Amino acid sequence: MTIHIGAKPGEIAPTVLMPGDPLRAKWAAETFLEDARCVNRVRGMLGFTGTWKGHPVTIQGSGMGMPSLSIYANELMAEYDARTLIRIGSCGGMQPHVKIRDVIIAMTASSLSTPSRGIFRELNFAPSADYGLLSAAVAAARARGARHHVGGIYSSDVFYDERPDLNEMMVRHGILGVEMEAAELYNLAARHKRRALAVLTVSDHLQTGEALSSKEREQSFGEMVEIALEAAFAPPTA
Ligand code: HPA
Repeated sequence: MTIHIGAKPGEIAPTVLMPGDPLRAKWAAETFLEDARCVNRVRGMLGFTGTWKGHPVTIQGSGMGMPSLSIYANELMAEYDARTLIRIGSCGGMQPHVKIRDVIIAMTASSLSTPSRGIFRELNFAPSADYGLLSAAVAAARARGARHHVGGIYSSDVFYDERPDLNEMMVRHGILGVEMEAAELYNLAARHKRRALAVLTVSDHLQTGEALSSKEREQSFGEMVEIALEAAFAPPTA
């Protein structure tokens, strides 16, 4: 048990999927895992462990924003020895060719700041995905015929953003979408030498103002969970 996770040693699988929303963790565990059981209820940040095609998997909520994710990802890596951590979540689309419901596989995550800033100080570290996971997720998305994009995303500290010039700068530099967690997950994975990836569904669009209904969010969410699971257990490529 850690400060924020009540699971006993051995109750967290080496592979962890991390949605922001703890109720999404419950839904994904009930929908995609066999023999899923709840292993964490501390602060309502639900976590479940079960199996997918015989492989042990934990689905643990991260909460919203990098400070929250950082707490759970740190404890999962340092205390439970999680080896592969994949964020599954929603994002806002930032490019005209990125449509609602599309999947974004995040190669890098830019930010203004992350909880690791105090460690990196003057260094602009480049948080990036694990290449093996990234390429396996791309292969899984292609095989399913899912509309997907691979590239940079923006991990913002604010949902209600008062700096349109920053979003504009991101758009000009080809950033595909905005969310609030991936950059710190990538930082922590680098520090702890673990594999990390973010697979995101475009739930709203900054330029068109479109947004998915909650029902549509759930349906699109399923495709992303399956891509993440297939990537996590893909055989290593040469
Ligand atoms: N901004 C930040 N985070 C998000 C968004 C957004 O528009 N959509 C989903 N997560």
